[in-house]
Amino acid sequence: MSERGSKRGKGPDLRRRLLFARSMARNPRQVGAVWPTGRRAVRDLLDLSDLSRAGLVLEFGVGTGVYTEEILARIPAEARLLAFEVDRRISAAVARSIPDPRLTVVPESAEVAEKYLAGEGGRERADFIVSSLPFTTLPEPVGRNVLDLAQRVLAPEGAFLVLQYSRNIEPELRVRFASVRRTVSPLNLPPAFLFRCMAPLPARTSRR
Ligand SMILES: C[S@@+](CC[C@H](N)C(=O)[O-])C[C@H]1O[C@@H](n2cnc3c(N)ncnc32)[C@H](O)[C@@H]1O
Repeated sequence: MSERGSKRGKGPDLRRRLLFARSMARNPRQVGAVWPTGRRAVRDLLDLSDLSRAGLVLEFGVGTGVYTEEILARIPAEARLLAFEVDRRISAAVARSIPDPRLTVVPESAEVAEKYLAGEGGRERADFIVSSLPFTTLPEPVGRNVLDLAQRVLAPEGAFLVLQYSRNIEPELRVRFASVRRTVSPLNLPPAFLFRCMAPLPARTSRR
């Protein structure tokens, strides 16, 4: 864990937690978790890579912002974080309460991330993508679109970091990335599966 990462972290504020709980009550399949991820699991996930060398990071599923804060604590001063969250109340609250010039909170689905990338046709590539989207409860096309997008926009040397509460997603990761490492964050409630996916396969030759 980075020095900066270890010094921050009082955790998401009460308002953001409340908005998260309301969002869960309104739309449980979209939120997919009763509690925000524990800070320990967030750190375990981010420890799978070295974010201190990041230029561009994408975050999918901001929620309370617990990942957002930890990512910002680890990336360089000149890096950028584009964070996608479909719940507009949540995205507005996070944008307001984390006034960091490196952060842009986008109140849209992660599926459209490409349109926020620089270069003709969004040709810029992300060094890291961090996702806590609930792939097992999201509508199947949404999950598939997000995974296809991650495969397309991840830099060749980049890493796609995914936290899940089951291993269901693993085959979908393995057809898109040549290297998939799985580990567990045992102290999270419930214990979380962590995946680090690297070396995106060319879309047309994915191992299906
Ligand atoms: C399991 S929660 C995790 C939230 C957060 N990372 C945390 O632990 O506090 C998933 C979040 O993803 C958001 N979400 C669901 N579908 C999304 C999509 N297609 N694009 C962006 N965010 C999405 C939900 O609104 C919810 O806030």
